[in-house]
Amino acid sequence: MKSGARLEGKVALVTGAAGGQGEAEARLFASEGAKVVLGDVLDDNGRRVAAAIGDAACYCHHDVASEESWTRFVAAASERFGAPDVLVNNAGILRIAPIASMSLEEYRRVIDVNQIGCFLGMRAVIPAMAGKGGGVIVNISSTGGLQGIAGLSAYVSSKFAIRGLTRTAAIELGPLGIRVNAICPGGIDTAMGRGDDFGDVGTSAVFAGMPIPRIGRPDEVARAALFLASDEASYCTGAELLVDGGMLAGPSWGRT
Ligand SMILES: NC(=O)c1ccc[n+]([C@@H]2O[C@H](COP(=O)([O-])OP(=O)(O)OC[C@H]3O[C@@H](n4cnc5c(N)ncnc54)[C@H](O)[C@@H]3O)[C@@H](O)[C@H]2O)c1
Repeated sequence: MKSGARLEGKVALVTGAAGGQGEAEARLFASEGAKVVLGDVLDDNGRRVAAAIGDAACYCHHDVASEESWTRFVAAASERFGAPDVLVNNAGILRIAPIASMSLEEYRRVIDVNQIGCFLGMRAVIPAMAGKGGGVIVNISSTGGLQGIAGLSAYVSSKFAIRGLTRTAAIELGPLGIRVNAICPGGIDTAMGRGDDFGDVGTSAVFAGMPIPRIGRPDEVARAALFLASDEASYCTGAELLVDGGMLAGPSWGRT
């Protein structure tokens, strides 16, 4: 497949696209020929990113935790560029607190955005994708969807759930021609991954001990999303792709 045209003629929706990994995915998808609809709750940033991409992109205010917002988002996208071929459920939030002091409200908010948002997103695009004879959904989980992390009970729960949702959707939607896969990023250099709560993550011991001893870049996740969104992944569904610098490969204490 020709580089620069791997998503030619496709309409892609990317949530949480006002910055970080979502922005990287929107930019890369557009550079590969897709029309991209960016959704986020940070309207100024979202509009700026869409304007920088140009005519192949548009921005819509979209809160993934809201059912009505999904209806509006898919309708606006379809009106502007046509029915969606690709959905990246990328939007996410993080709240750090030990279980003993995490409020129910905070816990629920993380589940609402990360987990319910992913469920609502998949449900919202099924009719349009099925009507086109198929499509692709990429759900952004995390290495936190494969292991416990102290202080991140809600986040980790939501990211485990996304893996379960992905596998279940792959089984249900396979007959409709819709592929559904997940990406599990490790530490990525974005507002979330470099948040104040994590200190100087770029040089921290967490990364220094890894097979690839550095924090990841948003474009490195975007390229994995492009692969899964494109026909190059035509036989992949229900899969989880780690983009984690080897974080989960195992401990480094035996290394000489
Ligand atoms: N950065 C990391 O280290 C890391 C690691 C693993 C997984 N992830 C996941 O990757 C995804 C992207 O995160 P990122 O690293 O780019 O972080 P980020 O904070 O830079 O981007 C997240 C985006 O989601 C948007 N968002 C938040 N709530 C929303 C809502 N209700 N509706 C729509 N948009 C909303 C934010 O405004 C922001 O633009 C998230 O799902 C995150 O959990 C991040």
